[in-house]
Amino acid sequence: MGKILVIGAGGQLGTELTKVLADQYGNESVIATDFQESAGSKFSYCAFHTLNVMNKAELEIIVKKEGVSQIYHLAAILSAAGEKNPLQAWDLNMGGLLNVLEVARAYKIEKVFWPSSIAVFGPSSEKERTPQNAFKDPNTIYGISKLSGEHWCEYYFNKYGVDVRSVRYPGLIGYKSLPGGGTTDYAVDIYHKAMSGEKFTCFLNEHTYLPMMYMDDAINATLQLMEVPKEKITIKTSYNIAGLSFSPTEIYQSVLKHYPNFKMEYHSDFRQAIADSWPNSIDDSVAKADWNWKPKFDLDTMTSAIITNLPAYFKFK
Ligand code: SER
Repeated sequence: MGKILVIGAGGQLGTELTKVLADQYGNESVIATDFQESAGSKFSYCAFHTLNVMNKAELEIIVKKEGVSQIYHLAAILSAAGEKNPLQAWDLNMGGLLNVLEVARAYKIEKVFWPSSIAVFGPSSEKERTPQNAFKDPNTIYGISKLSGEHWCEYYFNKYGVDVRSVRYPGLIGYKSLPGGGTTDYAVDIYHKAMSGEKFTCFLNEHTYLPMMYMDDAINATLQLMEVPKEKITIKTSYNIAGLSFSPTEIYQSVLKHYPNFKMEYHSDFRQAIADSWPNSIDDSVAKADWNWKPKFDLDTMTSAIITNLPAYFKFK
């Protein structure tokens, strides 16, 4: 096996996934990249290069020079940030993916992982247990770019045989790194506020259900999908995967079990409309049937894990 290239390694998912890949396949097998040079400080255990995925020539140089055989392309502008600068989000989310797919085709990369999102669904999609093939009318530029990206991935698979694998992540909740620019980010911020003894103002209404997932489950899903034999993969766009589904008031109740004096109030902003257009919960029966996907964490086990582990990564008063 050649090397594993992670693009956007400094982000919320990349920070954790890169470490697990290095633990599993060896530090010398993993190359972390990020457009921010400062992200390099997270990757003392493996090689790090500064890379803007929009620069295809630089991506090619790394792939050729390092003998890359797998690419995890994680760099993207998320839903809420994308609404503030739609054209930039489209350029990065689409242009970056197309550069990766082209390089994968030209250099015969064995496997590519590219995350899609629950944001591919929209106001007319079924709300409860949204099926794999539900009608999709995304109304954020992030969702539009993810849905288009799914079809590009399928196109490269069918036309050029590029083995691209993908899951539609729900909101990801971890403790090692902060998310940035997402509509589901409140479910990470809440733990930071509870542990620093501050009041939390939630930007969504109390009964807004969204599909979410603990980071360990998300990483397991990713590695499992990447290991499965190619013939088992029936979905060439992106698999629905489900973990948890909860509302702000439910995660608040879960945090209160550890911090009984913690206060939360609600002030919804433009992200409420984004959340309202997304599913409440996801049907992941196809991922279960094709590659035995099964999440391990529920809301309370996730809360306990985060509260136990967060202080090792962030300082609280
Ligand atoms: N967590 C993402 C967001 O909120 C959804 O994929 O944008």
